[in-house]
Amino acid sequence: MKKIAVLTSGGDSPGMNAAIRAVVRKGIYSGLEVYGVYQGYAGLMEGNLKKLDLGSVGDIIHRGGTILYSARSEEFKKDESQAKAIEHLRHLGIEGLVVIGGDGSYRGAAKLTEKGFPCVCLPGTIDNDIAGTDYTIGFDTALNTVISSIDKIRDTATSHDRAFIIEVMGRHAGDIALFSGLAVGAESIIIPERPFEIEDIVQKLHKGIERGKKHSIIVLAEGVCTGNELSKLLVDQYQIETHVSVLGHMQRGGSPTGLDRILASRLGARAVELLVEGKSGRAIGMQKQEIVDHSINRILNQKDPLSEGVYTLSQQLSI
Ligand code: F6P
Repeated sequence: MKKIAVLTSGGDSPGMNAAIRAVVRKGIYSGLEVYGVYQGYAGLMEGNLKKLDLGSVGDIIHRGGTILYSARSEEFKKDESQAKAIEHLRHLGIEGLVVIGGDGSYRGAAKLTEKGFPCVCLPGTIDNDIAGTDYTIGFDTALNTVISSIDKIRDTATSHDRAFIIEVMGRHAGDIALFSGLAVGAESIIIPERPFEIEDIVQKLHKGIERGKKHSIIVLAEGVCTGNELSKLLVDQYQIETHVSVLGHMQRGGSPTGLDRILASRLGARAVELLVEGKSGRAIGMQKQEIVDHSINRILNQKDPLSEGVYTLSQQLSI
């Protein structure tokens, strides 16, 4: 193998740049030429590729976002689009592709692999919803962003005796809500993976007031309902006033934490090793501190399990 390429796709995540840097530097260290694909699969279909050198990835390890930009592409689901993408790669003599992204990006890589083009995937998403890895690149940074935002909101909530609903990201996955909720000591954590009873939330709010608590925090994953919908329900049915803060896309930005930079660097370097070893269709992750790889298709068919221990603990500590 002489030439490889790397792309980022789907929702960006802090640490993607560190992963790109690792792929480029490890590739060059291994004697390869490395190309960057701009704008994800959409750019790949257009042939938007550029050769990267050591300097192209200098001064990026600490930056959020992705220097290769990202996109979500419906068009790429078509067979002819995938064939066109492979044509562009082969035209430049590229023999392997590293895809950094979430499950949609993994699906694209599985299709290219099926059509005979070797791909390996790295889990780049703040949602932490990819099977086969304990953590995804960007999750730790997003978690810390949410925690520091809620800590600030708590200051003002306490000063004014208020209850707050904090709506966090996670359309299908509750890890950001669950982990941040545990870390800030939230009264209630509402996630898509578990049904919730409005009475439980009300009961916890009342208990807090009886104990003289000056504030209450409810962390809500956006996939369940909006913060405003929940707030309306609480006021309409129980006459409980809450304030709503929607953290939004600030959760996806910012300088990656040390853990995310290291995870991204380790996984990025391993991606290059796998391609050099002639492996294809692999999804790389870290489980129990070990770098592992599984078949992309297996990962796509597996649901990332909710961390039961963390969920149970959050319930026990928020009584
Ligand atoms: O990156 C994952 C994620 O942040 C989800 O939690 C969220 O639902 C979605 O992306 C929103 O992304 P966008 O606004 O780019 O469609």
